[in-house]
Amino acid sequence: MDKATKLIFEYITKIEKEKNIDNVLQVLSEMARDLVESDRCTLWLYNEEKNIFWTKIAHGLQKDVELPGDTGTISLARVENKAFIIHDPYNNPHFNPDVDEATGYKTKNIMVVPIRNIHNEVIGVYQAVNKLLGDFTVYDIKFLKLVSGYSSEIIESALLYKEIEETQKEVIFRMGDIAEAKSKETGNHIKRVAEYTRILCKNYGLSINETELVVMASPMHDIGKIAIPDDILHKPGKLTTDEFDVIKTHTTIGWELLKFSKRKILKTSSIIAYEHHEKWNGRGYPRGIAGTDIHIYGRVLAIADVFDALISDRCYKKAWPIEKVISLFKEEKGQHFDPDLVDIFFDRLDDFLEIKNKYLDEFTYAH
Ligand code: C2E
Ligand code: SIN
Ligand code: SIN
Ligand code: SIN
Ligand code: FE
Ligand code: FE
Repeated sequence: MDKATKLIFEYITKIEKEKNIDNVLQVLSEMARDLVESDRCTLWLYNEEKNIFWTKIAHGLQKDVELPGDTGTISLARVENKAFIIHDPYNNPHFNPDVDEATGYKTKNIMVVPIRNIHNEVIGVYQAVNKLLGDFTVYDIKFLKLVSGYSSEIIESALLYKEIEETQKEVIFRMGDIAEAKSKETGNHIKRVAEYTRILCKNYGLSINETELVVMASPMHDIGKIAIPDDILHKPGKLTTDEFDVIKTHTTIGWELLKFSKRKILKTSSIIAYEHHEKWNGRGYPRGIAGTDIHIYGRVLAIADVFDALISDRCYKKAWPIEKVISLFKEEKGQHFDPDLVDIFFDRLDDFLEIKNKYLDEFTYAH
């Protein structure tokens, strides 16, 4: 398992355990620091009334530090409402070297990413300092933006006095995004798959509670992909047999990672991760089980995931026209897919297409 994978799972466990909002934020900024491989990462919150930034979380600094709201690199991210990498701080007018001088620390590079609320207002800034090896890249920005996105929900939820349980569900949902970022699929993929999952479960006759459980767990179906080497996962063309054998392990890896969790959502995710590539006719993987031996969660995810993979661009293929997708589902009824679920799929095709159009991908691959 690679480092990023281990990290994300360590942090999922930590976030699950935290009951206090300050601690959750602390864990999030530690995760951000480790994911972007920086020496420090600080979550600064903006106080509009006083026009200051303040933080409880400052690696190597004492608690509750305050900084002015309109100077320095963090305010640059706030004022411009944009992410920045400052490659050469000592030659950048926004950088204030006073703190370095006072503490003896040497800042080599900085990355700042705004944390926005739902009205797109900046409520804080993530600031990562000193990439451990080399300099920050656009990939680091991408990771930090993801962390920033769900931190914002947590901060907002705290302000709305939402239950911490509720916010943890959000965190787990967002963790799925991180896996998708690594596999270069957009965040919309997991939103769509979750919506398709809801339609299938509801019409299959699962209770509202069980349906929502599967919906919440669905973003983790490909979580095992974070352990697959990038050169295989992002290969533009067709995979060799050996490479595909490596990819197939994403199912067992996902299951292994999640199966010991005591939480219902993660337990459900582990079943989904394990069984979403099994086929009704027994020719799927990893175990080659057939029919109703495959858990209903796995049978549902098979349809939701393949439908979305086919209608989307991937690094290895272009999106299929809808007619071709429909004929594949007809052919695979009772082969790849549970025939009852395929009937539901065709009954509800309009709903599926509505979701597809609602969550359009923001970018596509060049082919
Ligand atoms: P994925 O891209 O999320 O695709 C999920 C599933 O959608 C696939 O599972 C497959 O059942 C279906 N699917 C996707 N594209 C096609 C297609 O062009 N034709 C057909 N008939 N079905 C398609 P599968 O095959 O077990 O693949 C699992 C994962 O392995 C894929 O997830 C993807 O990450 C990777 N993968 C599969 N084939 C290739 C490839 O040729 N090149 C690369 N780079 N990755 C591949
Ligand atoms: C990392 O490995 O630290 C980042 C994850 C990636 O880019 O694959
Ligand atoms: C930015 O770089 O912060 C603006 C673009 C975005 O958030 O997607
Ligand atoms: C920026 O927007 O300032 C950095 C580039 C990016 O967001 O990807
Ligand atoms: Fe998969
Ligand atoms: Fe997927």
